[in-house]
Amino acid sequence: MFRVEENMKAITTLFACTAFGFLLAGSAIAQDADIGAQLFSDYCAACHGTTGKGDGDMANLLTIPAPNLTLLASNNDGEFPMLKVIHMIDGRTGLRGHGDPMPVFGRAFASSEPGADNPYGSVLEVRGRVLSLAMYLESIQQ
Ligand code: HEC
Repeated sequence: MFRVEENMKAITTLFACTAFGFLLAGSAIAQDADIGAQLFSDYCAACHGTTGKGDGDMANLLTIPAPNLTLLASNNDGEFPMLKVIHMIDGRTGLRGHGDPMPVFGRAFASSEPGADNPYGSVLEVRGRVLSLAMYLESIQQ
């Protein structure tokens, strides 16, 4: 026989789980943005400015101006170019031109090479940092 009460219970549990899942995802994203914000002020603000608008202390020493990073989405038909940004930050993938003044963060963030007792080296750490930075940039789009 069809038991409404039990079905309701199942549905309520399902909703609760989904809501909890969103909550977790939300706080993970917030944490990523915090980490990204910290990394940004440590490694990027000197050139791109504390607000990312391309007005850092070193900006007037650069021959190529440091771009305003809050306009990445609006310069790309309103869509944040996540993959391009990841490649730009990493810098090892050949997307950047020669003589690009930006440090190669994919290498700079690497603290150890893979070895017998550490099969991934710092690969995951590097990716985490690059992704956190990219997500932070996504969060400051105008
Ligand atoms: C030494 C100065 C300098 C530092 C430090 C620096 N950048 Fe840059 N960045 C530049 C310059 C100059 C360009 C423009 C040159 C180019 O596009 O090749 C640029 C371009 C970019 C772009 C591409 C923008 C576009 O419009 O395509 C992104 C994204 C970016 N930087 C992110 C970062 C992040 C994130 C950091 C810190 C992890 C960082 N940069 C650190 C100087 C710097």
